[in-house]
Amino acid sequence: MADNISESNRRQIAEALTEYLADVTIVYYKTHGFHWNIEGPNFYSLHIMLEKFYEEIWESMDEVAERIRALGEKVPPGLSDLLKIASIKEAETAPKGLLMMQVLRGDYLALAKKSHDVGVIATSFGDTITTDMMTEKATFLEKAAWMLQSTIND
Ligand SMILES: [Fe+2]
Repeated sequence: MADNISESNRRQIAEALTEYLADVTIVYYKTHGFHWNIEGPNFYSLHIMLEKFYEEIWESMDEVAERIRALGEKVPPGLSDLLKIASIKEAETAPKGLLMMQVLRGDYLALAKKSHDVGVIATSFGDTITTDMMTEKATFLEKAAWMLQSTIND
């Protein structure tokens, strides 16, 4: 456990990470759902690209949840608990073709901003491990957002 950080500060970092976990869970399912539902002339390459993204996002969910545990807090046991605190919206319908890429790009950039915000909180409490982890998440998300944008550009 991270004994160099006070219990109340650890709790605050874990709360920020739990909110992040809620959003990343939405983004994970959305990416996987779009992987299943994508249609159009570039089906195969987009289907594979989204697979790479959801695999990476799945890993990041695990790392975030395990960091919450390492800080001494519990991870919400149910999906409904996470959905209540998520701020990124679920997909109600599958958008057509490249519009999916546009939607995901917006979500990835919003999540990258949240990664950064959690990192700032962690830094203020001297938790460099969480900060490093969240910087890594933001780096991936911004790169993925660029790749999504490039599929839309002419
Ligand atoms: Fe698949």
